[in-house]
Amino acid sequence: MDYQVKSEFVENLEASCIIVGVFNKRKLTPTAEALDARLGGLLERLLKRDDFSGKPGDILVIGNTGIEAIERVIAVGFGKKEDVTVASYRKSLAAAARAALTTPAKQIVSALHEVSVGGQSESWNVRQFIEVFESSAYKFSELKTDPPVTKSKVSRVTFLVSGKADADALQQGVREGKAIASGMNIARELGNLPGNICTPTYLANEAEKIGKSHKKLKTKILGEEEISELGMHSFLSVSRGSIEPARLIVMEYSGGAAKTAPHVLVGKGLTFDAGGISIKPSAGMDEMKYDMCGGASVIGTMAAIAELQLPINVVGLVAASENLPSGSANKPGDIVKSMAGLTIEILNTDAEGRLLLCDVLHYAKRYEPASVIDLATLTGACIVALGRHPSGLWSNNDALAASLVKAGETTYDRVWRMPLWKEYQDQLKSNFADLANIGGPDGGSITAACFLSRFTKDYPWAHVDIAGTAWKTGAEKGATGRPVPLLMQYLLDQL
Ligand code: BES
Ligand code: MN
Ligand code: ZN
Repeated sequence: MDYQVKSEFVENLEASCIIVGVFNKRKLTPTAEALDARLGGLLERLLKRDDFSGKPGDILVIGNTGIEAIERVIAVGFGKKEDVTVASYRKSLAAAARAALTTPAKQIVSALHEVSVGGQSESWNVRQFIEVFESSAYKFSELKTDPPVTKSKVSRVTFLVSGKADADALQQGVREGKAIASGMNIARELGNLPGNICTPTYLANEAEKIGKSHKKLKTKILGEEEISELGMHSFLSVSRGSIEPARLIVMEYSGGAAKTAPHVLVGKGLTFDAGGISIKPSAGMDEMKYDMCGGASVIGTMAAIAELQLPINVVGLVAASENLPSGSANKPGDIVKSMAGLTIEILNTDAEGRLLLCDVLHYAKRYEPASVIDLATLTGACIVALGRHPSGLWSNNDALAASLVKAGETTYDRVWRMPLWKEYQDQLKSNFADLANIGGPDGGSITAACFLSRFTKDYPWAHVDIAGTAWKTGAEKGATGRPVPLLMQYLLDQL
């Protein structure tokens, strides 16, 4: 979809569909009011007739406006003017998107950015609009022989600039929104692809393609031999049970001065996690194709940064592997040596994510990073603890944690901080190695984070457990594109 910003008076506008906001109780936004003047009060009359109260998400579609130049109007409720929140604004946008995407209109004009959302700029509004619209429009249908014909006809959205609005700021919102939405689409697409297509090699190839299309982005792929030479025996032990070879994807974006320390993003890229010898129950196991969503979010974020040409340095590292049972797979009780030198007793082969991440987190040290953030569908226990609304956050640095919490609130891609106390660390004691890869049934998402913290002492580090947020389960099963918005906001805030 194409997005543009255009200055025009509502009085002269021609549109096959215009979307305007209405507050509670039927209070019109400025553009809605100007439009209604042109429509001779039709909008107000219909809102009244249908008892449209203007709650967040209420929708009224006018299919016949009586004037030729304006073919349709979609009125969207935003609730009380003073009470619009990030959450309610997004709810209204989602309803607007659903309505707009089902009209036959090819071009849409929107004035929804004029609704002010506590403390947010109009360019933020535009960004949210694009993210929500692209998420509503996204469908994974390329593997269906007869794709459903529900594909939307909308090909262009124009943000209407009236009078005092700052067109440049809106334009910047469009750029950011488009880049973030396309990063999310990359993450969604890779997530939804099945494990037999999206293998570690496939992930690496996609990352390489993206690397080639941007000048400041360099992508290197390390194969098993190189991973072994680096001493990443913990990482490789997971992949040994599978025929598909492991890959370490290294994406280096240099947009800042050569000497500025980079931010490093580390993604878990398990293209399928059957659990290994500690095999998972079969119900719902298909969803373990999503166990690479952390890696996919890193690839999507790197693409978005490169598209925006941000003046910073960012490194994306993705540990890609399968976790399957076989004669060469890890066995419970096996002990492996990590790149950092610590030996690990593998008491459960299904706790494989941390076995990959510990080596890649150690590898991240060589960048002398400003911050390292890992993204991982690490534990089912994180879903038990927090549900599916926020991702779990752990950090050894309060300032970094606070930036991520704030970025999460701004984007509604929220995180909730959890503890890394010594008492939990004690659960990882092993009788035979330096540490065990599981910490027993209590606080499973916390002990997983504690495990990672043993490898991240030398830099500001945060771990984001996206087990509950990277995809939706049930009837609407599908990848969400999270946490690309969180990461992009965090990085934009570093400028
Ligand atoms: N990829 C899973 C975590 C997961 C499970 C994410 C379900 C989303 C939904 C991870 O590799 C795993 O299997 N973790 C184990 C850890 C346990 C063995 C300590 C888990 O959560 O059960
Ligand atoms: Mn597992
Ligand atoms: Zn896993």
